Amino acid sequence: MFSIFGKRTADAPSGAPHTSGQTAGGSVPLSMTVNGKTVAATVESRTLLVQFLREQLRLTGTHVGCDTSQCGACVVHVNGRAVKSCTLLAAGCDGAAVTTIEGLAQDGKLHPMQEAFRQNHGLQCGFCTPGMIMAAVDMVQRARGQLDERAIREGLEGNLCRCTGYHNIVAAVKAGAAAMASSRQAAQ
Ligand code: FES
Ligand code: FES
Repeated sequence: MFSIFGKRTADAPSGAPHTSGQTAGGSVPLSMTVNGKTVAATVESRTLLVQFLREQLRLTGTHVGCDTSQCGACVVHVNGRAVKSCTLLAAGCDGAAVTTIEGLAQDGKLHPMQEAFRQNHGLQCGFCTPGMIMAAVDMVQRARGQLDERAIREGLEGNLCRCTGYHNIVAAVKAGAAAMASSRQAAQ
């Protein structure tokens, strides 16, 4: 069983990738915020963000499901926007704020979208789930209002699931959107 909580997603964040600070040996120093913590490291300039997260930071909730940038299992947030982390160089994210599925829950409490996936059975094997949830959270934040079924399905075009048939995923995102709106209102 994989960690379940561990479109069309946005392209690379503005300003990325860049290679400032690259040494002759192809290693690049970088510093970024990951799930609220500052991380400084040296990576090979060709290291992808998903490799950096999984292999150096051991944040293995972000999955790799393809080598063609199609599956969406690797979606994380970079500067608040959902991106496929297999499409970005880690060095290009120098200075960025990155959130992975491990950073969504706060104070031991699942994010409303995670809770909605759990309650609506929005997963089977769970492999696609981290990417689905990260994409869904960004979709809801950008929509700032009601998302109908068609908008949700279009918003998840870049996230593939081979188990569920999507029905429960769409129901989960709908419920998660409502729960996020309630949380926002309660916080105001
Ligand atoms: Fe990134 Fe499939 S691993 S889109
Ligand atoms: Fe198995 Fe989506 S739940 S791939």
